[in-house]
Amino acid sequence: MSRPSFVSRNGSFISPQEASVSVLNPAIYGAYGVYESMQVVGGIVFERSAHLRRLAQSAAILELPLPADLPEIGRWIEAVVARAAVPDCTIRLFALGPENGGDATAYIWPQPPTRYPADYYRDGVSAVTFEARRYLPQAKSLNSLASFMAQRQARSAGVHEAFLYHNGAITEGSNSNVFAVANGVVLTPPESEVLSGVTRDVVISLAAERGIPLRESPLPLHDLPQWDECFITSTSRHVMPVTSIDGYPVGSGGVGSMTTRLRALFEGYFAAYLEREAQLMRG
Ligand SMILES: Cc1ncc(COP(=O)(O)O)c(C=O)c1O
Repeated sequence: MSRPSFVSRNGSFISPQEASVSVLNPAIYGAYGVYESMQVVGGIVFERSAHLRRLAQSAAILELPLPADLPEIGRWIEAVVARAAVPDCTIRLFALGPENGGDATAYIWPQPPTRYPADYYRDGVSAVTFEARRYLPQAKSLNSLASFMAQRQARSAGVHEAFLYHNGAITEGSNSNVFAVANGVVLTPPESEVLSGVTRDVVISLAAERGIPLRESPLPLHDLPQWDECFITSTSRHVMPVTSIDGYPVGSGGVGSMTTRLRALFEGYFAAYLEREAQLMRG
């Protein structure tokens, strides 16, 4: 993670050196904290309200008291974007557990945007499967050792992502949501089993709007040979095709037409969102 030149702590700017927490903080010994990553393009935070809602949901699951209401945290985010003074960045927000009772502390900072090579989208990426499950999967919490170990497995296998599986079914990527396409139907694991990704939610709504058949359904490992397509979604990736899993091609091994269609729909929505917000900002 690259070092920012400043950090916001509950809305006040401090130096990165000051942005430290004690070993006595429950964020350290209990992974008691929640976080968000947001994509900023042209100074606009994509789906800021959805990220704030999810922050509140994650905090509620952990019974973690946030330090301010969502509109106020939204203003802290905008202040960080303004101070970063770069058109594009990723905003990281961590709400870390209170040390002596009381509320969590929110740390927010900008970092360079994550970009992926064009061939990831043209040819698709590879994934491996990894047996693990995140604790309280509906929360974006600091308790992410399962994802960390899965990412390590992916790196050592030389592939882009690792799919977590549990009780014989794939739930989610280490930091992405997983979709499969089989017999013309888009399938993704139910919300109760995964982090409800902001990108996932947009894809599900777009599919519903366009009458594309999509079902929330478990993804048993033994169905993998029947998949025609696979893709993952996340804030930094948007919709990214996966064309090989555990060394086996998915379907024909190329990027499928449903993935291409949903990716185009997502990019259209993304561009329209930014344009709408830019117009609002211009007044
Ligand atoms: C476990 C997990 N699932 C899904 C996602 C994707 O969520 P989003 O689309 O909100 O970035 C992430 C993002 O980091 C994640 O960590």
